[in-house]
Amino acid sequence: MNATAAVAAAVVPAAGRGERLGPGAPKALRELGGVPLLVHAVRALTRSRAVGLVVVAAPADGVAEVVALLDSHGLEGKDIRVVAGGATRQESVRLGLAAIPAEVGIVLVHDAARPLVPVEVVDAVASAVRAGAEAVVPAVPLADTVKRVEPVSGGPEPVLDTPDRSTLRAVQTPQGFRRDTLAEVHAKALAEEAAAAAGGLPPVTDDAGLVERFGGRVVVVPGHEEAFKVTRPLDLVLAEAVLARRRAADAY
Ligand code: CTP
Ligand code: MG
Repeated sequence: MNATAAVAAAVVPAAGRGERLGPGAPKALRELGGVPLLVHAVRALTRSRAVGLVVVAAPADGVAEVVALLDSHGLEGKDIRVVAGGATRQESVRLGLAAIPAEVGIVLVHDAARPLVPVEVVDAVASAVRAGAEAVVPAVPLADTVKRVEPVSGGPEPVLDTPDRSTLRAVQTPQGFRRDTLAEVHAKALAEEAAAAAGGLPPVTDDAGLVERFGGRVVVVPGHEEAFKVTRPLDLVLAEAVLARRRAADAY
């Protein structure tokens, strides 16, 4: 068998602005422990023996900057490519996927905004795809009770119902896919958008959601609390604390 076929490639969407994090550089370039979130995320992927190539979808006006950044953080020895991302996360993933050589059969998609994902999660997702699943998501149980509401800006919002929490999971990345499945659902989503047929459908916020939309089968493997997404300022405080704890543990 071709060696490339057995090894997975990872797409890292990193082209978002990070509006919810507040004013500043694009989120992927913001620092955690003195190192950009993107560099943490790429390192987390390259630590996995399952990953042979990483394609970063950078902000369209920041490709050269991202290339320089990855070089200056000691990632030169790895197979890392940078492409211009798009206006939405979905578009960024599609553009990253297009840069993956045809012979790569397994693709992971990992948010640049999840810098601290443990390598065990990356390995578990890749092995589940290798074992035959077409789409795999890491997820964790919810701590809070969740209610579905009728959204009203400014509230109060009427509650519709309370889903059984034991059946709910908060989904993380990396999500893993058979490459043909991922390419097919992205192509279909694009065609749907072009036909403006997606107007009435709710937005899909992850890649596995696209697989579900087009009738594919998605399975969940255990995620990790440290794979959380840096979204709001408090998440960065938590991430700094987790990193400091890791660095202290490594010093012993
Ligand atoms: N992303 C991307 N291209 C976009 C939008 C988002 O590649 N046009 C990426 C982000 O860089 C991030 C991941 O998708 O790594 C998850 O998105 P999110 O957490 O929403 O990041 P942002 O879109 O940057 O943040 P916000 O929604 O607060 O602006
Ligand atoms: Mg966003």
